[in-house]
Amino acid sequence: MNLSTFQKISCDRVNSTLLDTIKVLPGHSERLKHAMEYALLIGGKRMRPFLVYATGEMLSVQKNDLDGPAAAIEAIHAYSLIHDDLPAMDNDDLRRGHPTCHIKFDEATAILAGDALQTLAFEILCDYPLSSELAIKRIELVKIVSQAAGYNGMCGGQSMDLAATDQNITQQRLEDLHNKKTGALLGACVEMAITLATDITPQNRQYLMRFARTLGLAFQIQDDILDVVGDSTVLGKPQGSDQAQNKSTYPAMLGLEQAQAYLDDLHQQALQALHALPYNTKMLVSFTDFVIHRTY
Ligand code: IPE
Ligand code: IPE
Ligand code: MG
Ligand code: MG
Ligand code: MG
Repeated sequence: MNLSTFQKISCDRVNSTLLDTIKVLPGHSERLKHAMEYALLIGGKRMRPFLVYATGEMLSVQKNDLDGPAAAIEAIHAYSLIHDDLPAMDNDDLRRGHPTCHIKFDEATAILAGDALQTLAFEILCDYPLSSELAIKRIELVKIVSQAAGYNGMCGGQSMDLAATDQNITQQRLEDLHNKKTGALLGACVEMAITLATDITPQNRQYLMRFARTLGLAFQIQDDILDVVGDSTVLGKPQGSDQAQNKSTYPAMLGLEQAQAYLDDLHQQALQALHALPYNTKMLVSFTDFVIHRTY
C-alpha cells in the first residue's frame, strides 16, 4: 500500500470515530457542540492518527484497537489549535482554510470547545472499545496522553513559546520548546502504539521513540519554514504569522538555509532510527519523507 492510500484510510477511520463520538452528544449546548465539530472535523492532515495507525500496524496491533487512541490524540490536537489561534496566543484568523474557531463563533465558545475536546479525548481513551486483553492498558494510554498534553508537554511548550516571543533564546531552549509544544503529541502517538503491542524489546522501543522525537522536532521546523516560504492558500493558515509576531523559530534563529540544513540532518537521523528496526518500516519511511517535504 502506498502512502496516500494509507493516509486516506487512516483519515476516513479517524473521521468516522470522531463523527460518531460528536454526534451522540446531547443538544443542550448546541453552539459549543457546533464549535467542537467545526474545529475537529473540517480539514486537517490527520498526521497524528496516521502515526498511530502506521506504527500500530507495523507492530501487529489490530486496527480496531488503534481507533480510540487515534481519535483521542486528534481531539487533543484540535483543542491545542483552537487555543493556539486565540488572541491571547497567536491571534490568527485562518485555520485549515476557514476562519479560526473564535472568529467563526466567539472567544468564550472557542475556549470552551478546546476544553471540551480535551476532556473528550480522555473519555474516548476510557470508553472506546478495545480488545479485552488490552483493556488493562487503558490507564497507561491515559497517562501517556496526559503527560504529552500537559505541563511537561504541549502546554508547557506553548508557555515557553509565548515567553520566547520578542526574546533571544538559545538554540537548546528552542529545541526544548519545539519538542514540548509539538514533539510530545507526536511522541504520544508512537508510544500508545508501542503500549498496545505485545513483544517489543526495550531496544526496539528505544529506536522507535528516538524516531518519534526526531520526527516531532523535524515536523515543527518544517512548520516554521513553511511560515516563511509557504503560501497561505495552500497552508490554510496565515503565512508570515511568526515573523509578524517576532516568534522564536528555527528560520528566525539560524536563517532559512541553516534551518533547512538542520531539517535535512534530522531527516537522516529519523531514517537511521527506523533502519535499525527489525520491522517493515516502509510506511513510516514514506511518512517521514512527507513530513520533511510537505508544502502544507
Ligand atoms: C499544526 O499541526 C500545528 C503544529 C503542531 C505545527 P498540523 O500541521 O498537523 O495541522 P493540521 O492538523 O494538518 O491542520
Ligand atoms: C503550535 O505551533 C503548536 C501547538 C501546540 C498548537 P504553531 O503556533 O507554530 O502552529 P501553527 O503554525 O499556528 O499551526
Ligand atoms: Mg503557536
Ligand atoms: Mg500558531
Ligand atoms: Mg507555525
